[in-house]
Amino acid sequence: MTEALSAEAVKSLGSPLACVVELHDALRSTQERARELAHAGARHGTLVVSRVQTGGRGRLGRRWGSPEGGLWMSLVLRPAFDAALAARITQTASVGVAKALWEIGIEARIKWPNDLLVDGKKICGILAESSAESAPVAAKRVAPGENVRRLDFVILGIGMNANLDPADLAVPDREVATIRAELGRDVDLLELLKTILTDLETELDRIEDFDAVLDDWRALNCTLGNRVRVRRFGETLEGVAVDLNPEGALLLKTRDGTVELYEGEIEQLRQDGT
Ligand code: BTN
Repeated sequence: MTEALSAEAVKSLGSPLACVVELHDALRSTQERARELAHAGARHGTLVVSRVQTGGRGRLGRRWGSPEGGLWMSLVLRPAFDAALAARITQTASVGVAKALWEIGIEARIKWPNDLLVDGKKICGILAESSAESAPVAAKRVAPGENVRRLDFVILGIGMNANLDPADLAVPDREVATIRAELGRDVDLLELLKTILTDLETELDRIEDFDAVLDDWRALNCTLGNRVRVRRFGETLEGVAVDLNPEGALLLKTRDGTVELYEGEIEQLRQDGT
């Protein structure tokens, strides 16, 4: 039997990432609510969850379908580390959430930079935005040591297709996976949240040891070694995704040489380039 989430139950998990919890029946977007709370001074570890989002947002301003049954959540993080490391949060979070999925029996793979897929279908999206209004964290990337600013906050949004049928998400079934469809049963959302928070905390705690995080990212990814097409800033690049650099940028081997990509939307191609 799956327990309904309650703010008290979430708080009683004792996670440092859920010291303050807001649980809503419906919100436009947990991301917007968490940002509002952060601007009003919300502490690190403020968690906003909503059963339904009426205006859920994905990367690149896309709509994120968020009907009942999913786990739609945003966390206010006030990282103790330097702003230069903020760009690591998105990939670090993807490793934590991927591990949580493996723990519940779902063999999720990470598509660069942080989509979680099962057999090529997206099961979870992650959106990390910094305190600069709606700026994706990756866009703020600077070389470590180049900038000693402290970061005000990061809003880490996680959209997990949990107790839903792919058809509930109003996108083609071949593109989405859900926990229900993968496991053939629903999961307890409180247990799922607990696993995610525990794994996220472990990964965020070692963000300064990014080599170790990236080794796990490599072990869990489904991008490296593939031909990909990347769209960024109005240009399209094609090549083979060969590796990550030490800051998690994708190294794309193109006909004109190797390019380092800090952001962009990738599409995995078959070997014949289609
Ligand atoms: C992506 O495009 O892959 C990122 C999707 C992020 C969706 C989550 S759901 C909770 C939070 N609230 C939002 O409006 N978006 C994020």
